Amino acid sequence: MKSDDLKFFKKWFSDYCKSFYSSDIDDQRNIHLKEQHTHDVCKNIIKISEGLYLGNDQIMLAETVALFHDIGRFPQYAEYKTFRDSISVNHGLLGAKTIVENKILQNLSVDEQELIIRSVKFHNAFSVPKNEKKDIVFFIKLIRDADKLDIWRVFEEYYESPDEKKASAIGLGLLDIPEYSEDVLACLYEKKIVPLSKLKTLNDFRLLQLSWIYDLNFNPSFMLLLKRDYIDRITAKLPKTEDIKTISASLMEFALCRKNQEE
Ligand SMILES: [Fe+2]
Repeated sequence: MKSDDLKFFKKWFSDYCKSFYSSDIDDQRNIHLKEQHTHDVCKNIIKISEGLYLGNDQIMLAETVALFHDIGRFPQYAEYKTFRDSISVNHGLLGAKTIVENKILQNLSVDEQELIIRSVKFHNAFSVPKNEKKDIVFFIKLIRDADKLDIWRVFEEYYESPDEKKASAIGLGLLDIPEYSEDVLACLYEKKIVPLSKLKTLNDFRLLQLSWIYDLNFNPSFMLLLKRDYIDRITAKLPKTEDIKTISASLMEFALCRKNQEE
């Protein structure tokens, strides 16, 4: 892959986004949110890749994966007006299909195409697939970390902005009450990712976001998580119970330990 290929992909992506622009304020806000998210995920993946001392070729491939990871969001929104996969379509699968149908990657080698398409396809899977080739698994892990680091930002901004400015399609329709569910809390105690199906309240979703920390893969990702203070910022919005304090402290300890771990 050459730097001209990456340049072409960036222009292609930008034109593709523009083709979904709308004069409807709400639609435009939702589309813009995904375009902005993509740019921030690109920045994250470059930071993580540099932190791992990857070579230039690998970094360009990683950036391409980030650029296209959410490409399925655009046709998803056009058809269903939501970003909730559970009530529409799996946007990772749709993204992989969109890349193939538009023949975007045809100048790349077959191996590079496969790596990008499969990384997009599985970036949002509940867990990293076990049967993929080693280098594909590596890129799936990279995009999952870069993506999570920006989803924390997106939801932080979403819940802080006034209702009339919220990008409507990312809301999960959860109850905004002061409670959280015991079985969601239990996942955190077991250091497990909370399944979406368990969510009942907005606080459950905050706990789900915290549980993603156990799914981060690389030291530089933990470094960014800590630098951006997401553990404290999310915890601050949860009820101040002993359980939450315990969970928050053990997440912090886990993140600090992983940040400093030899890879
Ligand atoms: Fe995604």
